[in-house]
Amino acid sequence: MLMTRQTGCASSLYMKQILIGLLLSVATITIAQEHRDWEDNHVLQINREPARAYFIPYGEQKGDRTLSLNGLWQFRWTKTPEERIPDFYRTDFVDKAWDTFPVPANWEVNTSGHEYGTPIYVSAGYPFKIDPPYVTREPKEAWTTYVERNPTGQYRRTFCVPDSWIAASPGTSPAGAGQTFLRFEGVMSAFYVWVNGQCVGYSQGSMEPSEFNVTPYIKKGENHIAIEVYKYSDGSYLEDQDFWRFGGIHRDVLLYHTPDVRLRDVAVRTLPAKEGKDWTLTVNPQFSVYNGEKGEGYRLVATLMDGQQAVACDSVAATEVLDLQHKASRMNEWFPQRGYRKTNRMEITVAQPKLWNAETPHLYTLCMELKNAEGKTIERVTQRVGFRNIRIAGGQLLINGRAIKLRGVNRHEHDPLRARVMTEELMLRDLRLMKQANINAVRLAHYPNCPRWYELCDSIGMYVMDEADCETHGLRGTLSSTPDWADAFIDRVVRMAERDKNHPSIIFWSLGNESGYGANHAAMSAWLHEFDPTRPVHYEGAQGTASVRSDMTRTSHDPQTVDVISRFYPRVMEEYLNPGIAEGSDQERAENARWERLLEIAQREGDHCSWEGSDGGPRPVMTSEYAHAMGNALGNFKEYWDEINSNPRLLGGFIWDWVDQGIMRGDSVFYGGDFGDKPNLNAFCLNGIVMSNRTLTPKYYEVQAVYGEAARMAGEEYFPVDHSQAVGVKRIGSDRPQSKKKANNSQLSTLNSQLPNLNSQLSTLNSQLSIRPQVFRAPTDNDKSFGNWLAKDWKRCGLDTLRIPMTTEQNGDEWTFTFEIPDTLPPLPRLGIVIELPREYELLTWHGRGPWDNYPDRKVSCPIGWWQSEVSKQYVHYPRPQHSGNHEDCTVVELHGKGVKPLRIEATEGTFSFSALPYSAQYLASKTHDYELEDQGKTYLSIDCAVMGLGNSSCGPGVLKKYSIDKQRRHQLKIRIY
Ligand code: GAL
Repeated sequence: MLMTRQTGCASSLYMKQILIGLLLSVATITIAQEHRDWEDNHVLQINREPARAYFIPYGEQKGDRTLSLNGLWQFRWTKTPEERIPDFYRTDFVDKAWDTFPVPANWEVNTSGHEYGTPIYVSAGYPFKIDPPYVTREPKEAWTTYVERNPTGQYRRTFCVPDSWIAASPGTSPAGAGQTFLRFEGVMSAFYVWVNGQCVGYSQGSMEPSEFNVTPYIKKGENHIAIEVYKYSDGSYLEDQDFWRFGGIHRDVLLYHTPDVRLRDVAVRTLPAKEGKDWTLTVNPQFSVYNGEKGEGYRLVATLMDGQQAVACDSVAATEVLDLQHKASRMNEWFPQRGYRKTNRMEITVAQPKLWNAETPHLYTLCMELKNAEGKTIERVTQRVGFRNIRIAGGQLLINGRAIKLRGVNRHEHDPLRARVMTEELMLRDLRLMKQANINAVRLAHYPNCPRWYELCDSIGMYVMDEADCETHGLRGTLSSTPDWADAFIDRVVRMAERDKNHPSIIFWSLGNESGYGANHAAMSAWLHEFDPTRPVHYEGAQGTASVRSDMTRTSHDPQTVDVISRFYPRVMEEYLNPGIAEGSDQERAENARWERLLEIAQREGDHCSWEGSDGGPRPVMTSEYAHAMGNALGNFKEYWDEINSNPRLLGGFIWDWVDQGIMRGDSVFYGGDFGDKPNLNAFCLNGIVMSNRTLTPKYYEVQAVYGEAARMAGEEYFPVDHSQAVGVKRIGSDRPQSKKKANNSQLSTLNSQLPNLNSQLSTLNSQLSIRPQVFRAPTDNDKSFGNWLAKDWKRCGLDTLRIPMTTEQNGDEWTFTFEIPDTLPPLPRLGIVIELPREYELLTWHGRGPWDNYPDRKVSCPIGWWQSEVSKQYVHYPRPQHSGNHEDCTVVELHGKGVKPLRIEATEGTFSFSALPYSAQYLASKTHDYELEDQGKTYLSIDCAVMGLGNSSCGPGVLKKYSIDKQRRHQLKIRIY
């Protein structure tokens, strides 16, 4: 018996037969399985056009030669490729019963009303069984991919192109009919395409564009197109980023038309003059010719415009560049036998151009017209041009000769409703919010973004680290030195750099993320350096000493293939809380010790930069990920910047990260595991300084304040924190508080805190009051860390119910609570009392830090003043419940409400911290999702004499010792309650 499984396009284009002989009792079964391009790391594409700069050519008006194929398609989704319909691409196939589904859209999460398959949130590790290049081997039975082995989407639709695009008869277009290209901006992760029943090609790589020349396949009238998309492919081994695993066509699909002589590509560079203030713009075009055209008499005329004003102009003959005869003299001139190729086919000198940088992003427009022998313009292309130059000198990164610091943030493309589909509105919102937070740099973690993003960064002013779509986290570095995968790695940087090379906003190329380090990285870096010597190369994985190799004894730090030293989650030079380690010991908790000290790296000597654009001095040092902002976080952000500002070689860093990757259904936010996805890393996708729907958090404002100060120090304009933006909190004054009451005569009583409550002693208070000591807070994500940090010890010691010994002295309405912390306890999150009040206590006034919540190590954005709010607005609704709502440095808190006697607490010595919430710490700790929280019918007023900081340990070092609660010390809370 012979069974054949068809893979459609594969069969006609690239086919291997694998014969497996199986002996089953008496019968011999032979399975001939067709070659699967999508499980072969040597097949990266079939018939795909070479990569080129992003532009869509036009005739008279932008868009006049473009046909968008966005919109509704007939659609069929199956859990496995085996269930798909192999000949669905036939024009006579009847798809009436199919669903309709939009392009662009991800299958699992979208707004169309149709969702297919399970979104899976995996951080480091693959959702399928690891066996490169295969993605469909049998995984664990509990895994989502056991059933949804490789979801496959089949798309069909028709389209009509203008008659003028069509040749007389298909395949033999006469000169003049031109060419039609089909362009996909991003498909996850591999796909075939057919036009009018004929296979056009195949491509993989989810975040890079793919173009096909469909001229031979299209016809007058109605045309038919079919696309088959595989969620997983061998390419997925390079796409193991920490994000949701979605499938589908997530970026635009379009057709565009060109003449038979066309501008295929163009590279622009801006170079400062060696002397004086004139700059040179070099323009390096590439042409393609079809149907016997030779480009004779064609010229490309390039005019640089400043607004409506033409600044300068140059032109080049197409035949010069095409050199179809391969003339030795011409080749020698442009591509010599030895040495560098030339890239200045056209040169435009611009006297004193307005320069581009992130603060003043001045853009020119390069208008290119391709003219035929009669001088008629047959094609137009425009590119925005920013005059800027990058150098590394004295260990600093210079933009147009001025040293900059990167006040950066990492950003995933994430929409809580549309998954990975980016809308103009959301991109603009992100950029505006970033600018407002004094962010000047964004790392495109961890893949090239949708092309519009770069145009917006160019025009709004944002430094960009463009990163190749290459992460093999779940395989560590095992593919990075495998020659068999070299092509696949290099394909990723080539397609990124070719597409994005003309954007002034891009100041770094990055080789990808978390893939170890190997020869394939060295090759990627070499390719980038040679292709584009104007930009430095980054890769965090390129680090360490060569002495780890058996045959090397050098101790230099970090391979020379990178031009900047980059680290994740470094420590500052200060002392960190070291739980479980005896005072005075040299030992450090592994959770801290694994993170290097950034300043120490910058202070090391003997490093040098070998990039052409450098002075050969040391490489700048940056943190490509720091300040892991998971949940209630961003502790000691200020200390990072105190250090960065203290050392010129410290270039700055990129916060991890910009936006929570939560998925929203109504107002509820869901995270890993909520869709039954397995494996998953639950809430680890929620690390943003803004929430999934871009609600600002207190973390955002802290960034605004600290980055604002850094901008001020650099002499740049900045946005001050606008406290009036706080939702549900109002500033009502800044004067120092006066006590409303004189102290009563002394009446001393010492109470034992083990008593259930102190009601009877609080003579001046409402008799329903209940006060007890409290040392517990609902663990923040930082308190939990990777499951081995403080929260575990708190649980072991029963901190949530523990009544720590407390001595109470009362002198009228003046109270002194004294705490001695037993040595046996782990570091405490807080130390103080909690008063349970009737829920009517809703209205809140305090003097202390506000408007939003703050902690000893996160309070730069929170000035001291008088603030007014409501208890129901105090809690910050992180998708996974945890402690929030604390206010530092307070001297007064007042609560009142309908039908209850106002309650005022004043510090009689020093200050206190407080939170007033409708939830108890224990209740918050018991919930896993914000949407489960219900008002508990009580107001929990916590007054603390000490609170531990937030630190960074959800992925990074812990709390600084100076922001922890000193166990050796006696702590006192001295307050007046009335
Ligand atoms: C880094 C990684 C990021 C993200 C982060 C933790 O190691 O590069 O993609 O996973 O850790 O949130």
